[in-house]
Amino acid sequence: MLEITVNGTKHAVDMDPETPLLWVLRDGLKLTGTKYGCGIAQCGACTVHVDGTPKRACCTPVSAVAGKQITTIEGLSEHGDHPVQKAWSELDVVQCGYCQSGQIMAAAALLRARPKPTDGEIDAALSGNICRCGTYQRIRAAVHRAAELGKGA
Ligand code: FES
Ligand code: FES
Repeated sequence: MLEITVNGTKHAVDMDPETPLLWVLRDGLKLTGTKYGCGIAQCGACTVHVDGTPKRACCTPVSAVAGKQITTIEGLSEHGDHPVQKAWSELDVVQCGYCQSGQIMAAAALLRARPKPTDGEIDAALSGNICRCGTYQRIRAAVHRAAELGKGA
């Protein structure tokens, strides 16, 4: 039995320790905001934070995150009002939406590390997050807007 902490709540996990974190979140805990895209760490749809760092949940065995703080899109903010979420809404970033929880988690981690990122830093930080709908220009603008909204936060 493993113990993991997700969005501040501890959970006992009775699964094979090699089970990818993504399936523990989606199937075990019913936190379906984290998406399955490729399963091979190539698309970023499954991005969560582990101790504040973005990680691909599809390729992270649950045993590797025991005792660590895991944050999913459901736990990014209490009322959906993280600066990144507000900026995404304000700039109407989302198209089909499938990639967007991963994009938002990647952007939130970037802004924690770099509160006022350049275009180059945004592109580099989000380069592993693929959007089939091509929302990249709006994503970049929304990261800049989130940086403004997050000033002093
Ligand atoms: S589903 Fe994890 S990176 Fe694509
Ligand atoms: S919004 Fe459709 S894949 Fe990104």
